[in-house]
Amino acid sequence: MSPADDVRARLQARSGGSGDAEPVRLPARRFVDRAFYEAERAEVFGRAWLLAGRLDEIARPGLYMTWEKTRVPLLVVHAVDDVIRCFYNSCRHRGAPVVRVPRGRNRALRCQYHSWTYDTSGKLVSVPDERDFVDLRREERSLVPVACDIANSAIFVNEAPEGGLGSWFGGAGEELTVESEGLRTLDQRSVTLPVNWKRVIGNLLASPPAPPRPGLGAPAITDADAELVDGGHLRIVAPFDAAGASALGLSGPLDWANLSDADLPTIAGLGPMLSSTATTWVFFPNLFVTYTPSGIFNFTVWPGDEETTLLEATWLAPDWGEEDAPVEHPAWRERIEWAQARLDAVAADLEGAQDEMKEPARQGLSLQDDCEAVRLWNENLDSHLRAVVPPDTLTGAAPGEVRSPLAT
Ligand code: FES
Repeated sequence: MSPADDVRARLQARSGGSGDAEPVRLPARRFVDRAFYEAERAEVFGRAWLLAGRLDEIARPGLYMTWEKTRVPLLVVHAVDDVIRCFYNSCRHRGAPVVRVPRGRNRALRCQYHSWTYDTSGKLVSVPDERDFVDLRREERSLVPVACDIANSAIFVNEAPEGGLGSWFGGAGEELTVESEGLRTLDQRSVTLPVNWKRVIGNLLASPPAPPRPGLGAPAITDADAELVDGGHLRIVAPFDAAGASALGLSGPLDWANLSDADLPTIAGLGPMLSSTATTWVFFPNLFVTYTPSGIFNFTVWPGDEETTLLEATWLAPDWGEEDAPVEHPAWRERIEWAQARLDAVAADLEGAQDEMKEPARQGLSLQDDCEAVRLWNENLDSHLRAVVPPDTLTGAAPGEVRSPLAT
């Protein structure tokens, strides 16, 4: 059975389900504790493949950009040999930032402190007054590399990879055959929220994105199917309701077909399920990718600390070549306004949520069975943390347990 048939069968089976499963608790402490957050930084963000940007941001050799979304200063370079590389943005002399501006273009990277200079492969190529440095071996002072790889024109970085980017994609890599090489960033906007990042993830999982389709607005979606796939990623398929499906030309919410969006160029390789539903892949830990036939919408969720989160919303559109970006096209205007409305809605939903979690009597969040995706995602997060955080902070821990000290 193909993945799409499997999803359809589960969606058919769930209609009329009893919905009487026991709620699962997420202990409050996992949302407020500094040590829990530090464990996430080390065990999750320090080891995962993370989206650092897109090739179109450093399209030509010599272009570079700094990247600090995980609070570790990195430097992503389109090297003169046409390879994309990533380094710690830290000079091998005394550790000053090699690059201080967020973006630039140069054939060499010169630290402004004492002018040690590196080529775009990271090699130290010039040291002023080199004779003053006794025993300096340039070959031992290259910039420290960070693993970096490309998938569908997206740049991923990983400080401590256990495997390549392909194996990290796991089952998703085989399932997604979308040809998004020619996509460009059309619009990106963000909001910083005073709340733990897992509350933001939970909010997005509980109401998956259903972007507007040209001429139709944002179709209403029905119960979603959420499945954790190989690699710890989630596939969430939300069918449109009967009216939305009919407006798209489908004979029913589960009768999927290869659709295109009126007036807009189509992304090749989507397949019937991705083009006929609001399907979101949630790549662990923090990247949401929602498909439409004419554009891909991303949310990325970046913890600043245990109670601050940067939420970014990005629209990718098929390459518009030398023309102006189609931001004034009515369909794209509607989509960009929708993205802003989603950011505003998340901010409104979570207003005061962090303070609520800190109330002494608060036992945490209770997940009903309609929050299956939230449970699956949190259990997967726990699988990375189980060895370093106490049991009473994990998904499903019973309320009122004696608090054990967090490992530091
Ligand atoms: S710290 Fe970079 S040259 Fe001295």
